Order: sequence, then structure tokens, then C-alpha cells
Amino acid sequence: MPRVLEKAKILETQREAEGIHRLVLYAPRIVPTARPGQFVMIRVASEGSDPLLSRPFSFHRLHKDDGLFEILLRVVGTGTRILSQRPPGSTLDVVGPLGRGFTPPSGPGETVALVAGGIGIAPLWALLDELTAKTHKNHRDQLYVFYGARTRTELVPLSPLKRLGVSLVVSTDDGSAGEQATVVEALARRHETGMVPLDRLYACGSLPMQVSLARWASGRGILVEMSLESMMACGIGACLGCALPAVDPEDPQAERYVHVCTDGPVFDPGRIRWDKIQPVMARPLTSASPSGL
Ligand SMILES: Cc1cc2nc3c(=O)[nH]c(=O)nc-3n(C[C@H](O)[C@H](O)[C@H](O)COP(=O)(O)OP(=O)(O)OC[C@H]3O[C@@H](n4cnc5c(N)ncnc54)[C@H](O)[C@@H]3O)c2cc1C
Ligand code: FES
Repeated sequence: MPRVLEKAKILETQREAEGIHRLVLYAPRIVPTARPGQFVMIRVASEGSDPLLSRPFSFHRLHKDDGLFEILLRVVGTGTRILSQRPPGSTLDVVGPLGRGFTPPSGPGETVALVAGGIGIAPLWALLDELTAKTHKNHRDQLYVFYGARTRTELVPLSPLKRLGVSLVVSTDDGSAGEQATVVEALARRHETGMVPLDRLYACGSLPMQVSLARWASGRGILVEMSLESMMACGIGACLGCALPAVDPEDPQAERYVHVCTDGPVFDPGRIRWDKIQPVMARPLTSASPSGL
């Protein structure tokens, strides 16, 4: 896929939830070949050099006919704070599309769920747009969206999701919206009671959520793809900063690394050595939650 450096113009900015902003950018050279799950590197600095590096953001929505894409960003530090304050009309240096996106389902007969934790809704929405466009509205209830956040104020507005006609399950850790559960617990409860049979899962969220989902899905015969994050300096495979420990299919004893920016960010979670990323996450299952997660 050709990657392009383009000066993208910000057409619109919108606060969507607590600390979460949406930017609409005009980038007619980047958008045509972009796929859900791929990302862009955005140079944040408007003047001076802080922050020096570009920052990675997933395509949140793609509007190919208009040469537009959207990003949904959560403010966590200097770069995202500056971006959230850039006014419409200003331009940003953007490189993309980068990385490997989601693989579409192999056929219309598959039952598919999207599992989004917090800002993880960002890349999954672009995929949802693609899936709903291919699914007759009478069958969209076979598309499940599990969307969880810590609390109600961190959820982006739900009405556009509801309008799509998909089966939406909302959960919050504190029970202030939807059911009180983690997003993985909400999924597990429905799958294990037979309410949601699943062929394929697409997911994005925090590291604890991803570890939890990877462990739950393992051995259940469900195809899973996850969009993973890592610290990224270059986004093109040049700095080695985004490497994650991975399973070597040919030699289980060998140390192997994958680059999130070029091998991913979308991965089969079975490829990742989660125990090496954060040993604390690899503790035994507890009986604290109904799903055993
Ligand atoms: C492929 C990819 C796609 C992404 N897509 C999105 C998106 O669609 N929306 C969104 O809001 N964010 C996304 N991120 C994360 C986003 O890039 C970081 O939040 C951002 O770079 C932080 O920049 P900052 O200057 O504000 O924070 P910094 O000042 O650099 O850091 C602030 C805090 O955030 C942590 N942090 C920084 N970068 C990351 C990272 N990549 N992953 C986890 N923690 C990080 C730091 O450790 C620190 O604790 C994505 C990351 C990757 C790798
Ligand atoms: S971010 Fe530089 S190699 Fe991946």
C-alpha cells in the first residue's frame, strides 16, 4: 500500500465525551487506499518542537467519496491536548495509511462481534461502517457491538450506533450506563448462555481488556483480531520502538518480536506473548467474576 505525506486540513472538531474529541480531516491522497484498522502518524507540533515526534491515530471513520477521514482522540498528554485544541481551518502533517488493517469476514453467514473498550471504539467504528454497508438492514442485528467504558461520561454518543440497527450492548465498570460489567464480562455472559453465538471477534481497548479477551477467546474456536497499541516514534518500521514479544510458530522456545507499526496494529492475539508484556496480567483466573475472567 502506498503511504503518502499530506497536509491535511481540519474541517471540523467536536468534543464527544469527557476528554474525547473528534477531528474531521480532508486528506484526499491518503483516504482512497485507507482501510479500517490502519492508522496515520500526525505531526502535532504547530510551532517549536514540542512534542518532537508524530503521534499515531487510527482511522475512526472513512468518507472515501469526500476524501475525508475522522480521528477520535483521548487526551492523555501534551500531543493529544494540542491536537484537541487545533481549530478548524488549520493543517496537520499526516503520513498514511500505515500498518495492516482488519481482515473482513469471509462471508455473510458469519456472526460477528466488535468489542470496544473506551477509546478502542475509534478503529472499530470504521470497520462497523464497512460491515453495515455490506449487510442488509434486516440482518444487522446479527452484528454485535459490545462497547464498554469506565463510566457514562466517557462513552461517546450512542445514538449514531443505535441508528445503524446493530445489536448494541453497553457496559460500564461503575454501572452508570448499560450493565455493570467490563466489556469482556458482558460479551462472555451472552456467549456462554448461548445468546450470542460467535464466529469472529474484532477488538480494541486497554491492555488489561485485551489480555482478558485474548485469554477468554483462546480455545473457543472464535477468530479474533485485535488492534494493539505500542509506543511509536516512526510508524514505518525504522526505529524498532514498537516491538512486542511474539510467538515464533516454527520454534516455541525462540524469542521473536513483531512490530506493531508494520506487522500490525491488527493481530491475531494468539501470536502475542502477553505474559512477557505484563507478567502481572498472567495471574491465574479468579472466581471473582461470573465469567471467570
Ligand atoms: C496504532 C495506534 C493507533 C492509535 N489510535 C488512537 C486513536 O485512534 N485514538 C487515540 O486517542 N489514541 C490512539 N492511539 C494512542 C495515541 O497515539 C497516544 O495516546 C498518543 O500518542 C499520546 O500522545 P501524547 O503526546 O498526548 O502523550 P504523551 O505525553 O506522549 O504520553 C502521555 C501518556 O500516554 C501514554 N502513551 C503515549 N502513547 C501511547 C500509546 N501509543 N499507547 C499507550 N499509551 C501511550 C504514555 O506512556 C504516557 O503515560 C493509538 C496508538 C497506536 C500505536
Ligand atoms: S514505530 Fe518505529 S519501528 Fe514501529
